[in-house]
Amino acid sequence: MTHLLDIDNVSRHYGGLTAVGEFSGHIAKGERVGLIGPNGAGKTTLFDLITSYTRLSSGDVRFEGRSISARKPHEVARMGIARTFQNLRILPNVTVFDNVSIGALGHVGHSPWNSLFARRAISERISRLTMQALERTGLESLAGELAANLSYGKRKYLEIARALALQPTLLILDEPAAGLNDTETAELAGFVRTLSAEGMTILLVEHDMGFVMSLCERVMVMASGQKIADGPPGVISKDPKVLDAYLGSDVEEDAPAAVKAAEPIGEPA
Ligand SMILES: Nc1ncnc2c1ncn2[C@@H]1O[C@H](COP(=O)(O)OP(=O)(O)O)[C@@H](O)[C@H]1O
Ligand SMILES: [Mg+2]
Repeated sequence: MTHLLDIDNVSRHYGGLTAVGEFSGHIAKGERVGLIGPNGAGKTTLFDLITSYTRLSSGDVRFEGRSISARKPHEVARMGIARTFQNLRILPNVTVFDNVSIGALGHVGHSPWNSLFARRAISERISRLTMQALERTGLESLAGELAANLSYGKRKYLEIARALALQPTLLILDEPAAGLNDTETAELAGFVRTLSAEGMTILLVEHDMGFVMSLCERVMVMASGQKIADGPPGVISKDPKVLDAYLGSDVEEDAPAAVKAAEPIGEPA
């Protein structure tokens, strides 16, 4: 069976450091999958490998059965994988609208060789995709505002809007709830659920265990670059290897209890 995404034995070394070591996993179409693990486990690097923001040292990533490891990030995006970044990549002195439309540009295949007529059609399509994404994320009334003037919570939605403008099949979110309060986090969970109900496949990294365990149907756990567990939240939260990874040798005593109770454990120091 071909999965939507197949991650086949991927590794990424930085000098002597193995950020991701022989990680394998898959995502089926329509799934909501969480990726958890202590800070430095290699979660963001794995996202970077999937989306071609960094080169594989070895292994292969396939999307809809086709290898995407040698593709450029914008090609991966055009094929249907969009992502957000842990450190928001928003241009502060540019409008909300332009922050999103810049992302959509790559999607519709803008080229300087296009005729004037084609260019007009393309810019209309970009505007349409941009406005749709802003409406989806509740930012339409702020379209003309500079991104710098948005609250932190709104900026996180702007980051998501930019990904949605690519009309992805697979949406990858890197710590979407980080820095949000409880109300905002619950609202975000509802929003991700809606996207999922509409057919979008979701892969997300999040430290808020309550968020991950209640939202995701399956959770993959990484520690020191490796996958140490993969299963439904109920199984993962009782897995001794997972509790160990969070406990470490001398970290807070209550960390495993937090995982078990699916309570937010906050941002690890
Ligand atoms: N560009 C880079 N150069 C060198 N080391 C890196 C680079 N990116 C990540 N690392 C290292 O790889 C490991 C995994 O990092 P990361 O993927 O950011 O972890 P996580 O997202 O799980 O917190 C860390 O030890 C980090 O310092
Ligand atoms: Mg990270």
